[in-house]
Amino acid sequence: MYTLGIETSCDETSVGIVENGVKVKAHIIYSQIDKHKIYGGVVPELASRLHVTNVFPVLTEALEIAGLTWKDISLVTATQGPGLLGALSTGFMVGKTLALALQLPFVGVHHIEGHIYANLLDTDNSFQYPLLALIASGGHTQLLLINKEFHYELIGNTIDDAIGEAFDKSARTLGLGYPGGPIIDKLAQTGNRKTFAFPKVQTPGKYDFSFSGLKSAVLRMNQQLKFNEEPRGSQVMADFCASFQEKLVSELTSKTFEAAQNYGIKNILIAGGVSANSFLREEISKMKNKYTIYLPELKYCTDNGAMIAGAGYCRYKAGFATALDSSPVATWSLAKYSPT
Ligand code: KG4
Ligand code: ZN
Repeated sequence: MYTLGIETSCDETSVGIVENGVKVKAHIIYSQIDKHKIYGGVVPELASRLHVTNVFPVLTEALEIAGLTWKDISLVTATQGPGLLGALSTGFMVGKTLALALQLPFVGVHHIEGHIYANLLDTDNSFQYPLLALIASGGHTQLLLINKEFHYELIGNTIDDAIGEAFDKSARTLGLGYPGGPIIDKLAQTGNRKTFAFPKVQTPGKYDFSFSGLKSAVLRMNQQLKFNEEPRGSQVMADFCASFQEKLVSELTSKTFEAAQNYGIKNILIAGGVSANSFLREEISKMKNKYTIYLPELKYCTDNGAMIAGAGYCRYKAGFATALDSSPVATWSLAKYSPT
């Protein structure tokens, strides 16, 4: 059974076609990064308009790559939220229209659930429960306890910025460009992680996160040491990126493993764009002898339609469907998205 997945929640127009929820037949992403980077971040209105322009070429290319026609598709899925409302509206509307025209079932997918199911794409794995999910993206930093499929309990959340924002905004301070996560990750490869120290992070809840203090620390350190005037390839820049990345990643890993231990959980999953970070993957993988670790394949870490198709397929198999008069949702907690 072939599922079509449409993702337009932010700045990627993406369509995936997935067989039986896991085998990826097409994975097409039209990234808008080049159009947004001159502004130093995503411009919502521009994103919406580019989705409108790009969505049909992406759909056509996905069918072509998969070697399929519309007749082969059995289920249509699209990201329903959370995300930028104008951006979401394009993909969600196109998904509903296709479902109506082709007389197919439709599932509106929670973007974060999509990231979670990206872990199963092109693998033979299935999730073992209870499962602890670390969500690390441009909009979210959360720890979710998943006791059984589709039942999410939020046990930790960021009280300010998401980790992806901490990477992106700090990279901007450092004059490194957008998006900052992959740039800092790359520069950090040749740096010494022990060169710069960062302030201790305090949070109200044991498993909560906070990144705004670290972002301010980068601002202050940059005012003193003028990293933004350094050439991109300088050793001091590499050292700073490596030290900052280690600090950010250690915030994630320390809380994740503490929660896993305290809740007695043996299965850990990471999801969201920041799960592409090489140091985070390395640190999480070190615990493979103690835990079952799920890591998405690199190409499925950042936003894509295949993950939406994967999650939508699992929802559909569980009897879930979305009415065609439903709307996209900008703010939507996964903990409040349980089976109907
Ligand atoms: O999940 P995603 O594609 O979009 C959201 O749902 O937000 O995540 C995008 C975020 C951006 O902040 C980007 O800088 C970050 O993921 N990111 C990374 C890496 N690749 C993408 N952060 C750190 N290291 C990376 N290699
Ligand atoms: Zn995402």
